[in-house]
Amino acid sequence: MSERAKYLAAKSAFEELNGAKYIGLGTGSTAKYFVDLLGKAVANGFECKTVATSNKTEKQARELNIPLIDLDEVDELDLVVDGADEIDNNLNLIKGGGGALLREKIVASKSKKIIIIADKSKLVTTLGKFPLPIEINKFAHKTTMRAIEKIMPKFGETNRLELRKNSKGENFITDGGHFIIDAFFGRISDARKLSCALLEIPGIVQHGLFLNMCDLALVADNEDVYRYEK
Ligand code: A5P
Repeated sequence: MSERAKYLAAKSAFEELNGAKYIGLGTGSTAKYFVDLLGKAVANGFECKTVATSNKTEKQARELNIPLIDLDEVDELDLVVDGADEIDNNLNLIKGGGGALLREKIVASKSKKIIIIADKSKLVTTLGKFPLPIEINKFAHKTTMRAIEKIMPKFGETNRLELRKNSKGENFITDGGHFIIDAFFGRISDARKLSCALLEIPGIVQHGLFLNMCDLALVADNEDVYRYEK
């Protein structure tokens, strides 16, 4: 993963703003570059209102004096710019490596356009090599994990789950106060059916499959940015 590629992808997203005023700010090391660029533009007079997809991004935006609003204040955002952990040929995604998938999905669902920025290591033919982040309620989390384990063999080659930990070895807690389970599928055979099956498990709050949501992926290597559009 190259920092230059992430920067180039973020810069090209910035060039896609086309007068957008209401902007969703993604989370992660690639989205961070976009927020930095937006901060510079705001300092030079660019007018916008933004919604952050995580506490971390919100903090960054505040430090850069980027105007923030509550998502409830608007009917729609013009666009959201966010990163991804995997992008397949149909622009379906795995997200949530940074643990912000719930807010990311809520913000994306209220955005007219979803732009994903990534370095080219994120391109895959089939989703699933990256462990699928699943946000679950803390209550009876082992029961929820067992329910996930039960359906995994139908959709993947492997069926290993990990309760995500933070750097101190404690359970990782999302901004919404939930746990994250990382589900190792290896290769997801039918992402749409898996999405439905997961959402039927009561303890699951949301999962990191973003299907049929991305409009434009800007994927960079160290020299060029490649556009993948719906
Ligand atoms: C955050 O929860 C994620 O969805 C990120 O957008 C994703 O993990 C990509 O992050 P990087 O840009 O740091 O790879």
